[in-house]
Amino acid sequence: MASDPSISIESVLQEQRVFEPSPGFVKTSQISSFTRYQEMVDSAKTDPNKFWGEAALKELHWFKSFEKVLDWSNPPFAKWFVGGKTNISFNCLDRHLDGPTADKTALIWEGEPGDQKKYTYRELHSEVCKVANALKSLGITRGDLVALYMPMVPEAAIAMLACARIGAPHSVVFGGFSSEALRDRLVDGNAKAVITADGGFRKDKIISLKTAVDNALSEGSCPSVKSVLVVQRTGEKVQMNAERDVWWHEIIKKQTSECPAEQLDSEDTLFVLYTSGSTGKPKGVVHTTAGYNLWAHLTFKWIFDIRDDDIYWCTADVGWITGHSYIVYGPLSNGATTVMYEGVPRPSNPGAFWDVIQKYKISIFYTAPTAIRAFMKSGREIPDQFDLSSLRLLGTVGEPINPEAWVWYREVIGGSNCPIVDTWWQTETGGVMISPLPGATPTKPGSATLPLPGIDADVVDSNGNSVSTNEGGYLVIKSPWPGMMRTVHKNAKRFRESYWEYLKPVDGNYIYFAGDGARRDEDGYFWVMGRVDDVINVSGHRLGTMEIESALVSHELVSEAAVVGRPDDLKGESIVAFVTLKSGIDPDEGSIDQLRAHVSREIGPIAKPDEIKFTESLPKTRSGKIMRRILRALASGKEISGDTSTLEDKSVLDNLRS
Ligand code: WTA
Repeated sequence: MASDPSISIESVLQEQRVFEPSPGFVKTSQISSFTRYQEMVDSAKTDPNKFWGEAALKELHWFKSFEKVLDWSNPPFAKWFVGGKTNISFNCLDRHLDGPTADKTALIWEGEPGDQKKYTYRELHSEVCKVANALKSLGITRGDLVALYMPMVPEAAIAMLACARIGAPHSVVFGGFSSEALRDRLVDGNAKAVITADGGFRKDKIISLKTAVDNALSEGSCPSVKSVLVVQRTGEKVQMNAERDVWWHEIIKKQTSECPAEQLDSEDTLFVLYTSGSTGKPKGVVHTTAGYNLWAHLTFKWIFDIRDDDIYWCTADVGWITGHSYIVYGPLSNGATTVMYEGVPRPSNPGAFWDVIQKYKISIFYTAPTAIRAFMKSGREIPDQFDLSSLRLLGTVGEPINPEAWVWYREVIGGSNCPIVDTWWQTETGGVMISPLPGATPTKPGSATLPLPGIDADVVDSNGNSVSTNEGGYLVIKSPWPGMMRTVHKNAKRFRESYWEYLKPVDGNYIYFAGDGARRDEDGYFWVMGRVDDVINVSGHRLGTMEIESALVSHELVSEAAVVGRPDDLKGESIVAFVTLKSGIDPDEGSIDQLRAHVSREIGPIAKPDEIKFTESLPKTRSGKIMRRILRALASGKEISGDTSTLEDKSVLDNLRS
């Protein structure tokens, strides 16, 4: 672990404001007092198996009940709800069809050019069944992995639910990733099929998704992929390979709208979702059927205090875990109305979000701090032009939120009326872990507050011992929870080593650590400080510095590269790359553009360095390790503090400074 988690503590230590849940909100909320929250925490602690077992029986439908709540006999490999049979697609659809929820709106979709669609639960069920049947007709069976590379269209959610229905794990690849990044994920996942669209609207441009899929599959690079299902979205011309490609609308026409949900084992893989870590290629995080379902369901219910008449909107992309858990599975499992929006705010449409809130009378809004900071910068005049009075609850996710942005969100967007839930979690945790319960927990701007019932979170030192109040340390989870990732796809060793053995297990007990630093204040509130590993968080997107470095080094001009994050007012962090060119090559005006374009091709535009600095050599230890701490300080214009005696060649520093 290169850096010291205590470094960024100063700024939030000063924050003293506390906001009690408003009496109006408390009156109708499901968990409506701190005492009730405490009782839940206590009962989960006293008998976790009873707590989770009862929750699973109450909240999910089971084709066959489980025999054992948790098998933790082979840590860190957990099995939850052992012996049970269920299906998340059934829990999100079929079980709502018996009562009034059948004709309730399940999904509202607002398209980028202004088109819209609505599906009731009954309609969504029938669409999902047709697609599930279509997948079967393409030869996809239980256990086959299906990749999705899609824009934010309803078909993305439908495809996920269709895969889940037949027990085919899905692997959603964010539509902003390049064909190279897609190919890596298809190969690692051994995908049997890809579901995509002709193109997608992104800001004011069209991106050609189908062409990217063609490139990813070119030259026989992914022989496992036998079929490609293509949604018609933008209407642009695409090449259809007669042996491999089929149009979604054509194949759907031939399917019936009945497809019984497969009775899956609790531990059958539901999906694989790739995310960046500090080393190597992105990791395929594996989530399984029952535990993930319960966690997405329960956390959604607790944190968003969902009521039957709520219109809920999460602005994430389905390509990320937030889209999985809180656009699709959490809301639908609860029978809620979930909104999906294809657009994003941009200079040509800065009020886009507020327009959607006004139009659909959104009552619960969940977005990222980076978006809030951008809105804050462009001024309250824009949101003030819209009627946002339907809002009753606001949420944030993805990165630490600075207290100023929190207070602005509360006052300007929430009219000082809505509680804010700052939710801390990760791809690996499946759902939220630390968050206020809006009717119960007093909030402090910038703090994700307290762990959810049953979540054994702590802040520890590198030996795994709890640190004292307000001292920085590693944010860890000390006991298993239902939504935990089960393994890294095809790499159990990496799972064990990177998450569970990084910190020394105390008394032989495994503790989970996934890269964040934090402190706890005198009330036990958690203040998450951000990543302390070599992962950077750019506008809420997780990127491994190693991945960007490998992309740079794969360019013919580059000999070596080191990438670090630099604090950024809007994006949280920006990407700074220090690059050494091959001997005899002098950088010219075009080199920077060339390298940025190369990274964009290799990974995607989100990974493009904001700044590239050419240097003759990089600061290294005698054993050849790049000293990123020094580069981080240099990138952000800070003094280089700490020990530099391990530097192999001191003159490198002077060169870099100049
Ligand atoms: C960061 C996104 C502070 C954190 C759900 C974590 C946060 C990483 C918060 C996971 C928050 C997420 N406060 N930091 N409320 N939420 N993070 O896997 O660094 O894309 O480790 O999951 O985002 O990113 P991921």
